[in-house]
Amino acid sequence: MNTRSVPVNLDGNSHKYEVIVGHKVLNDCGEWAKSNLSEDSQKIIIISNEKVFGLYGKEVSESIKNSGLLVETHLIGDGEEYKSFDTLQNTLKVFGQNELKRSDAVIALGGGIVGDLAGFAASIYLRGISFLQIPTTLLAMIDSSVGGKTAVNSQFGKNLIGSFYQPKGVWIDIATLKTLEHREIVAGFCEAIKQGAIGSKELFDKTASFLRDYPINNFIYNFDNEGFLRDLTNLLASQIDFKAQIVMQDEKESSDREDSKSRKILNFGHTTAHALEKVTDYKHFKHGEAVGYGTLVAGEISKKLDICDGNSIKLLNDVVGLVGKLPETKNIEIDKILESFAYDKKAIGQSLQWILLESIGKPKILQSQFIPKSIIKESIIKVLKG
Ligand code: NAD
Ligand code: GLY
Repeated sequence: MNTRSVPVNLDGNSHKYEVIVGHKVLNDCGEWAKSNLSEDSQKIIIISNEKVFGLYGKEVSESIKNSGLLVETHLIGDGEEYKSFDTLQNTLKVFGQNELKRSDAVIALGGGIVGDLAGFAASIYLRGISFLQIPTTLLAMIDSSVGGKTAVNSQFGKNLIGSFYQPKGVWIDIATLKTLEHREIVAGFCEAIKQGAIGSKELFDKTASFLRDYPINNFIYNFDNEGFLRDLTNLLASQIDFKAQIVMQDEKESSDREDSKSRKILNFGHTTAHALEKVTDYKHFKHGEAVGYGTLVAGEISKKLDICDGNSIKLLNDVVGLVGKLPETKNIEIDKILESFAYDKKAIGQSLQWILLESIGKPKILQSQFIPKSIIKESIIKVLKG
């Protein structure tokens, strides 16, 4: 099976890298890593967690060793609470103990938590050492591994301390998705639908067709099907290309941009998603599941404001429905969600911005003061309480 390559060109091509998508390519990652590092690179440290390293660590380590590089490993805890200052500090200490030099490199092997933490650590150790991503969740493949946002969580909120630090390359083996828990696959597809909804009708339809052709409940049983592997590879390449196109023309998410290509549009569905995660103490939803609900709330607001037609929003609802039932929301207090918006507004020191839809593939950024509070509340009630 062929691999696909998606280029990410930044700063007028002065910094560019490729995202490679293939099947059963993990044992080739050593040569890929070596070819993306400087000639004097000697050592790579793999950051992962116990679960992912247990599944794929041996193959990755051996491939890197076979390429002639030295390999060290540092495992962090599994879960959002480990994307923390404590883990960061410990990781930097391990870099120091292993005497990593500026020419050496860090590989993130895992989902978005490992990627965000490892990327941030790489960005500040010795003022920046090379960083490579081997994402192993669907969300990390189509979103977090591409575009250079790195972060840890803190008392100020989730992801508010971090850096923009691009990887030297991203290596995706779709075979790793076979071991992913079902809810993580659902979460990843919610993000894929989100990217389709703001990206283009073509990307949205491609994502929907994939979910119709390969019902999500059978996802992990399809890995012997050549058609499935080809279609999944192509879908991921299209999703990544969309993300790359946005990042390439607004790498650092300029605060003053409000046009439909601003990097801010990637936050479609996130206003409600962050509130849902916060009021349930980050325990009830996978991030992508909360984004699933968030896209529906943003869609409903767009419809109620009459900026988007009802048929487009119905289609959005139907396609989100293809991922199956999302976690129950009937016990969530609507007022707590509204309070959380107010908190977010204070925390970022500016007006809350909503990413809405004019049609599928056409996002619109709107300041919250231009949206009647009653519309926001009614939309949340409709989506969460049916
Ligand atoms: P995650 O990293 O927690 O991974 C989900 C779970 O899957 C974990 O338990 C992990 O151990 C396990 N896992 C990973 N790969 C596996 C595999 N192949 N087989 C079996 N299990 C596997 O979650 P995630 O959804 O990948 O990432 C969420 C994080 O990403 C959040 O912290 C979010 O803030 C961040 N994020 C960052 C960006 C960005 O642009 N940097 C974008 C979106 C999300
Ligand atoms: N996931 C949002 C971004 O990369 O900007």
